[in-house]
Order: sequence, then C-alpha cells, then structure tokens
Amino acid sequence: MVDSIYRTRSLGVAAEGLPDQYADGRAARVWQLYIGDTRGRTAEYRSWLLALLRRHRCRAVLDVACGTGVDSIMLVEDGFSVTSVDASDKMLKYALKERWNRRKEEAFDKWVIEEANWLTLDKDLQKPGDGFDAVICLGNSFAHLPDFKGDQSDHKLALKNIASMVRPGGLMVIDHRNYDYILATGCAPPGKNIYYKSDLTKDITTSVLLVNNKAHMVTLDYTLQVPAQEPEEAPELSKFRLSYYPHRLEAFTELLKNAFQGQCQHSVLGDFQPYQPGQAYTPCYFIHVVKKTG
Ligand SMILES: C[S@@+](CC[C@H](N)C(=O)[O-])C[C@H]1O[C@@H](n2cnc3c(N)ncnc32)[C@H](O)[C@@H]1O
Repeated sequence: MVDSIYRTRSLGVAAEGLPDQYADGRAARVWQLYIGDTRGRTAEYRSWLLALLRRHRCRAVLDVACGTGVDSIMLVEDGFSVTSVDASDKMLKYALKERWNRRKEEAFDKWVIEEANWLTLDKDLQKPGDGFDAVICLGNSFAHLPDFKGDQSDHKLALKNIASMVRPGGLMVIDHRNYDYILATGCAPPGKNIYYKSDLTKDITTSVLLVNNKAHMVTLDYTLQVPAQEPEEAPELSKFRLSYYPHRLEAFTELLKNAFQGQCQHSVLGDFQPYQPGQAYTPCYFIHVVKKTG
C-alpha cells in the first residue's frame, strides 16, 4: 500500500510557524519509522555530539526541536540535564511516552518536556537563570520554518529567540542540509545519512520551488520500504513529503551571527568533519557550532 501522508496543502501552516506537515499525526508515525526508533542515531553522530558537549562542560541542554525525542533520549541516558521542546504535540507524544515508560529511572523522571514554538520561545519557556549551557536544533529541523513573509523575518525572530536561551559562554548547535549543493544540482548529495541508523530509505526525490527567480522552498519526497510484519507478507512502500527553506551556508552563517548580535565564535562542520569551502568531499549536512561570548 502506498501511504501518502501529507495533504497537498502542506505549504500552509497549522500553528504559527509550524509547517502543516507536522500537524498531521501520520507524519510523526512515518518519521518514527524513518529514523529507525528513538535510539536511531549513528555512533559517529552520537560520539561527536557527546564529546563536543563534554569538552565545553555543558550539563544543562535545551533541545528546541526534540521531535520524537531521539537526541534528548540519548542525552538523558548520558547524564545531561535535558529540557526538550517542540511545536508539534504529535511528535512530542512519542517523547512523552518514552519518558513515562522509563519514569522509574531518575534521569527520565527529571527530563522536562514542553510544547513550545521557536517564534514565541521566550514566552513559551522559562529560561533557567542566565540560560542553558547548550541549545541544540538538529536533524535539519530549522529548515522546516518557512519564509511566508518573503523577508526571512520569521527566521531571524526564531534564531534570536533560540540564541537568547544560551547562557554567556554556552553553545548553540544547529544544522541544515547542504542546500547549496541541492540548489546547484537539483539533487541531494550522494552519501549515507550521517544521522540515522535507519536503512529504510529507498529513494528521495527533490523539487525546488522558485519565487521571483529565488529559491524559496525545497521539497523532498521520501519513499521508504517498510519491512513486512509477517513472514509471508511483502514489504510495503510508504511515501512522505517534507518541505524546507533552503538555507545557504553563507547566508545562514550571517543569520546566526546576527542572532547573537555578533557576540559569538562561529565554526562550521560538514558531516561532523572540519569543513573548508571548495573541499573535494561534498557534505550532506552542515553543522554550525556557535559559542556565545557576550
Ligand atoms: C525533522 S524533525 C526533527 C526532530 C528531531 N530533532 C530528529 O532529528 O528526529 C523537525 C522538528 O522540528 C519541529 N518544528 C518545526 N517548526 C517548529 C517551530 N516553529 N517551533 C518548534 N518546533 C518546530 C517539528 O515539529 C519537528 O518535530
């Protein structure tokens, strides 16, 4: 059975700034399938993130796009004090369920999960003291925020709100797919998914929407081959569509620096490796690490 989970009006917004795509509970279910399960992160990603946070002596971490909880669970298990937010209650449902199932473990009992939107984060979430030691926004999440006003004012507001949650001396870690490559070639870069262990992806089709000759939205149509439940059944194909704002590396770096009013040190990695523009290897993802200096 082919399961098309998104309504065609997925270009609309359900809650302010929350793409309609995540308001649909089926999206959360298929996302859960896509990432494997809540323990679906690759060893490479896990060791990079944990080492970074430990090197910077981060303890209190805010995950502003926790989704089903995949990063947050990893951090709770590794002894961090974790606050997790997301604008989609359908995604949060999975994180809340895991928290409930493991409530007898002290670390899970202390795990804070709230519904919050980046556009109103300052009102939705009480900042502890000077802020969190680290704020993460990973899994190509930020690119879900559309630019319906056409001036990126929502991107600027959301990044300012997210940056305001970082304490002075703390870190923000945020990523996006390599949209420079996608816009130049019309395809996602070849290469394995550095984030998810899941090997279910069969195909990703890319479409680029231009508005006034400017790239405005990239749509990825994912086809997953879902294993059969019973031995005699054939595997099923499941399709889902996600739309993203195509952040270019240079422009996004500028947005980030402005969100910290220039009071930051910025570095960028490609697929968790040091990145140099023009290098031979084309990363699938760029990961920005910003240290708040002011
Ligand atoms: C691709 S999922 C990633 C979730 C998780 N980080 C992961 O890697 O599996 C993106 C998440 O961003 C959330 N999101 C999108 N727009 C948001 C907004 N304006 N405020 C808060 N969360 C938002 C969605 O609800 C979704 O759970």
